[in-house]
Amino acid sequence: MKIINVAGARPNFMKIAPLMEAFDAHPDIEPMLVHTGQHYDETMSDLFFRQLGIPEPDINLGIGSGSHAVQTAETMKAFEQVVLDEKPDVVLVVGDVNSTIACGLVAVKLGIKLVHVEAGLRSGDRAMPEEINRVLTDAISDVLFCTEQSGVDNLKNEGVDAAKIHLVGNVMIDTLLKNREKAEQSAILDDLGLQPRNYGALTLHRPSNVDNTETFGRLLNAIGEIQEDLPIIFPIHPRTRKNLPGLGLQDRVDAMANLRLLDPIGYLDFLKLTANATIVLTDSGGIQEETTILKVPCLTIRENTERPITAEVGSNQIVGTDPEAILSAYRNVMDGRRPEPQTPPLWDGQAAQRIAEILSQQA
Ligand code: UD1
Repeated sequence: MKIINVAGARPNFMKIAPLMEAFDAHPDIEPMLVHTGQHYDETMSDLFFRQLGIPEPDINLGIGSGSHAVQTAETMKAFEQVVLDEKPDVVLVVGDVNSTIACGLVAVKLGIKLVHVEAGLRSGDRAMPEEINRVLTDAISDVLFCTEQSGVDNLKNEGVDAAKIHLVGNVMIDTLLKNREKAEQSAILDDLGLQPRNYGALTLHRPSNVDNTETFGRLLNAIGEIQEDLPIIFPIHPRTRKNLPGLGLQDRVDAMANLRLLDPIGYLDFLKLTANATIVLTDSGGIQEETTILKVPCLTIRENTERPITAEVGSNQIVGTDPEAILSAYRNVMDGRRPEPQTPPLWDGQAAQRIAEILSQQA
């Protein structure tokens, strides 16, 4: 079974790594890796390939940045030729980025079986570009692998045939568990002069949070207060970095003495940073899952989540974007008022193995 695996943006790389490893080791599977080039910087892409031991992509489409339509369309045009040349049995896409829907759509239009890993997640918020990518990718996929029961339920509610759906666990957590020990050797805490459990980590990059002066400004009200109490480390996404001066917010950030901005950091440094933090504040999807396994309190600065299990059993709280709500949740965490988090079912490091087994049985 020849499988073209697609990766495009940073959060895809930790999902594709264990899949490539499991497929490489499987006698019945011949994997190929296509990088769309949606993310292309050393720190947004290459570093992840090296640290996670992902094989060099067989093909890099070199798409780069652009509007949603341009990025999606350019990816489709380039990927169509790859599928025509390579004639795979299966195209596998992960997550919810523009590369996911672009390559998925190309595959089904050419009559190639489409597999979606991390299917069924729904925030219910159609203003999120990722939600559109998730709904559309799932609607055209032939095999759908879910990380949590809510994903299975959502797909069934949308009329997806139950025979196509498999609850297999979380490939992103496969990567976390595999690299946890290695990450402990990262020197990031020493380099930044930090003590474990004596700082917070922050990430923000959702367009709904960082593309608008008023919203981003309100978030900075809360962050400003928190950093007076606890040093906050903020590895900053390129789009957020660009927006600060563009939205006239750079001065406010510069004035926060205990808020430290870093350029994007690699996987191992970030894992060490979050694993040892007192608290994590984020609008990311994957970090909600990683902190669940690390049992580090996570405040998700969004009005919704597509990963409800992290809030049901884990250490995640969906606090919204109102500064008072963020501060009140922060104080509760610092007061130590929180239940012992549990591990979601099947988040055990074996998800990619399960996927390889299920796919090989369908050959
Ligand atoms: C994309 C995903 C988002 C994911 C995020 C993780 C979509 C719709 N969004 O958002 O779901 O959470 O990746 O990072 O696919 N840039 C660089 N260097 C890079 C890549 C991007 O500087 O290597 C800058 C460019 O200015 C670009 C901007 O970041 O315009 C945004 O990149 P883009 O890929 O459009 O979306 P993300 O915000 O990264």
